[in-house]
Amino acid sequence: MGKSSLLILPGDGIGPEVMVEVRKIIDWFGSNLGLDFDVTEDLVGGAAYDAHSTPLHDETMAKALNVDAVLLGAVGGPKYDNLDFNLKPERGLLRLRKEMDLYSNLRPAQCFDALADFSSLKTEVVSGLDIMIVRELTSGIYFGEPRGIVTEGKERVGINTQRYKESEIERVARSAFELAKRRGNKVCSMEKANVMESGVLWRETVDKVHQAEYSDVELSHMYADAGAMQLCRWPKQFDVIVTDNLFGDILSDTAAMLTGSLGMLPSASLGAPMENGRPKALYEPVHGSAPDIAGQGKANPIACILSFAMALRYSFDEGVEADRLEQSIENVLSKGARTHDLLGEEGITPLSTSEMGDAIVEALAESV
Ligand code: IPM
Ligand code: MG
Repeated sequence: MGKSSLLILPGDGIGPEVMVEVRKIIDWFGSNLGLDFDVTEDLVGGAAYDAHSTPLHDETMAKALNVDAVLLGAVGGPKYDNLDFNLKPERGLLRLRKEMDLYSNLRPAQCFDALADFSSLKTEVVSGLDIMIVRELTSGIYFGEPRGIVTEGKERVGINTQRYKESEIERVARSAFELAKRRGNKVCSMEKANVMESGVLWRETVDKVHQAEYSDVELSHMYADAGAMQLCRWPKQFDVIVTDNLFGDILSDTAAMLTGSLGMLPSASLGAPMENGRPKALYEPVHGSAPDIAGQGKANPIACILSFAMALRYSFDEGVEADRLEQSIENVLSKGARTHDLLGEEGITPLSTSEMGDAIVEALAESV
């Protein structure tokens, strides 16, 4: 088998800065452990718009469909706010998700011991927290038709449609049950079956998959609003949460914030297996492009580096190396290294983006 291929799309804002640090990590694995990747880099989002007047060039899309994994930084920025809807940076990301058919979006919310104090919740509520949100990513209200803004009589009406096929619910439910088997063996499914028919179908379908294939996994259901409340009240009750595209967008931001810093959280978006048995996959940090701090060396590269760790685990069968990378990050944090987003304690001088990258490379070197 040839080298594994990786397409890197740094994107906008702090995306390119954090990706420089990921490249250091990738290079380290190549030079020290012989884990070589065939890396290509390309544009997405505002950066692609500036170069090609489109947030994702067809050639880039084609490349993404032909690599083992895609690693993306972030897209968007105020410069692009007034663009036509279909040219906005976010459309580039949504096209990647849709055309790669990345239906299962894994968003871990994990609390690093060294950072438990950063949460806005009490330390005892979040310390040791480790939950996984599985968000359906290619359907639901994000993509349903009809959509648009139409004129009815004297006023305009904005329309979006929530729509789920059984098969779409089944496959993301399977993905959540499979994950749960390798973790705490519990799934909580969230929808609003009390007010939405799509929620009724969601609940019935998750139950059906559960009974037929995963009856040994513990399953519960919650309305998404109650779920949001429970996430803030006692998040450790959850192991895996499976939910639709829009609820997943919102609940995953809530869960992310519980852990103390958005700058720490990675994500994986997985599709059906390719010919080589690996899932189609795109990895990206949960945080956005943070235009307010872009170019100042203040960004935390850890979320993006942890996204690469997820790639090692889910795309490249390198779970041991993923553990090594995650452990190295833990070690750096427990020694007190902090980027700007993690300040709070007195007397700590923050590391710049590149100093944090270097510290993680050093910790990796100590791990062999
Ligand atoms: C996310 C983001 C995206 C989404 C945007 C940038 C399109 O908020 O990945 O959570 O809404 O899915
Ligand atoms: Mg979001």
